[in-house]
Amino acid sequence: MNDSEIRARAEELRRLLHEHNYRYHVLHAPIITDSEYDALFAELKKLEEEHPELITPDSPTQRVGSDLQEDLPKVRHPAPILSLGNVFSPDEIRAWRERIGRLLPENVRLAYVVEPKFDGLTVVLTYEDGVLAQGATRGNGELGDDITPNVRTVRTIPLRIPVSGNGPAVPHRLVVRGEVIFHKKDFAELNRRMIAEGLPPFANARNTAAGAIKQKDARITAQRPLTAYCYGIVAADGPVPATQWETLAYLRDLGFLTAHDVIRRFDDLEDVIAYVQEFEARRHDLPYEIDGLVIKIDDLATYHDLGVVGKDPRGAVAYKFPAEEATTRLLDVAANVGRTGVLTPTAILEPVFVSGVTVRQASLHNYDLIAQKDIRIGDRVIVKRSGEVIPYVVGPIVAARTGDERPIAPPTTCPACGSPVGRDEGEVAYYCTNPACPERIARNIEYFVSREAMDIEGLGERGVRQLLEQGLIRDEADLFTLTADDLLRLEGFAEKKAQNLLASIRAAKERPLARLIAALGIRGVGSTVAELLARHFHSIDRLAAATEEELQTLEGLGPHTARAIVEWFANPRNRTLIEKLRAAGVRLQEEAAPQPRLSNRLAGLTFVITGTLPTLKRNEATALIEQHGGKVVGSVSKKTSYVVVGDEPGSKLTKAQELGIPLLDEAGLLAMLDDRR
Ligand code: IVH
Repeated sequence: MNDSEIRARAEELRRLLHEHNYRYHVLHAPIITDSEYDALFAELKKLEEEHPELITPDSPTQRVGSDLQEDLPKVRHPAPILSLGNVFSPDEIRAWRERIGRLLPENVRLAYVVEPKFDGLTVVLTYEDGVLAQGATRGNGELGDDITPNVRTVRTIPLRIPVSGNGPAVPHRLVVRGEVIFHKKDFAELNRRMIAEGLPPFANARNTAAGAIKQKDARITAQRPLTAYCYGIVAADGPVPATQWETLAYLRDLGFLTAHDVIRRFDDLEDVIAYVQEFEARRHDLPYEIDGLVIKIDDLATYHDLGVVGKDPRGAVAYKFPAEEATTRLLDVAANVGRTGVLTPTAILEPVFVSGVTVRQASLHNYDLIAQKDIRIGDRVIVKRSGEVIPYVVGPIVAARTGDERPIAPPTTCPACGSPVGRDEGEVAYYCTNPACPERIARNIEYFVSREAMDIEGLGERGVRQLLEQGLIRDEADLFTLTADDLLRLEGFAEKKAQNLLASIRAAKERPLARLIAALGIRGVGSTVAELLARHFHSIDRLAAATEEELQTLEGLGPHTARAIVEWFANPRNRTLIEKLRAAGVRLQEEAAPQPRLSNRLAGLTFVITGTLPTLKRNEATALIEQHGGKVVGSVSKKTSYVVVGDEPGSKLTKAQELGIPLLDEAGLLAMLDDRR
């Protein structure tokens, strides 16, 4: 950038930051995420550092942030309510330590406390003779908004301390700092309530918590299940601990909620770095959202002596995790046809960078949720990408609407074949009603060859599409009559690769019956239900002859799935498919292998398995449970005794948690069978 470009960029950044500040603090309707704001701010700060002549008195960098509201009474804080500087990497943590080292006596040994960085709103709580006398927001750091009636509604903020009779003594006046947040489950529950009342759910927990605690009407705050964690003493007129570590224990002993399962004290900065890096992978295991960890000098005298730069104390920094949410524009919604015909809405987005990758598409889950969240085409939306899950649209930013947004209607015809769309009563999914839909068939075949199903190695999505396009296959069964000549006509196939694929196709003819049943792509029939069906019927022909009533007597199989199975086999195309598979020599039955009974340890117990277990395959775990007298069923109910949970568990885990069914991992299951117990 040349000088005039730099000048123009600084001006642009100032304008943007002013606008977003106004939207955030005055309108309470931000249209970008906090981390997007931070990025703009950091860019301006860097430009100004490199070109100090560009700093203007009205630059947002020259102002201490404020979230004061016009309509609430003000209180003056007994000491400045400071903020925190951010660091984003181990090197920046080391640079922070070096900077403060220059201000400290040589060779001083420091200890550090690491705490969660709660993503909420600061509250300043004043206790007089142990009684909660006042609650305030941070405001501009000097003055805060008086929100005393609101904080009184937060259950985790004690009204009197010490809460328990044998707690420590409290100074006449004690001012405590904490953070008001939502626990994830409480935020989800609040949104369930909103949806049940026909109201749009909240998109962002932090902003909702901030809005709730700053309400003018405390009755509204009381309806929001907020939680407060406390982590510091702002002022006291009596003896209080001399270190941060002891302060946290003291606050806990007084009856405040503290994050004692996360906080750690370290003598070595490299241990701090190892902990914060390792924690990043665990951040989602906490019951609340954090956007990083805070590193503080343990000794409070040293911490205070280090002083302040701007509004940030030198003695503490926030180590921020990469942002998982970003805002972008929803350009369009595509309906994707799945293998069972279900139409899944997919968001087509203006490309946006989120937690390390560029996201162009995101899940919109289903059409009911789109309506509940009132997401429209053209909306600015919040996109979240967290861990390995598929990116999804959290919700629209209503404040950014221009009026040109268009509502999203579920399709009435299949986008691939034009057939009418159906929907089962009580189900959220819309689906293509045409069993011969070319997209459904393609998806079905892709699934048929995949690892979860018939496991035909060497044939992926692209190969299947090519085979279909060239007319070499029309259905799953045609795979088994492919020749080397056929395969050599495909792009990227030479002799060796073709022979390998033919070998894996041959091997797939011998897959266990349960795999074949799962591979057929019947709605509601995943690997667990397929196991159940294989064990009950032992052959495709007997399964094909089963009635809905008979199927429904199988434990773990609901009426929708029973109907889907009967309908599937009633379909002429599918009957032909089975006959073609038979003619090609694919295994369609299996011997009822009598299970030797090893013990009766699990007699009377019913198990559900979800996710991938570390060593046992699904059918092995099932056989093992049965050999010890237990039963395995396909879905969780009140009657389930245990749910065995592996990697990437599905909705069965959620259901089990809702019903309070005890959970086991593989080791737990094996321990139950251990006859030395
Ligand atoms: S200490 C004087 N500790 O993060 C020390 N702050 O980005 C400054 N926050 O304004 C605060 N968790 O609202 C501290 N464990 C924690 C925190 C925490 C969240 C918030 C706090 C602060 C903001 C700075």
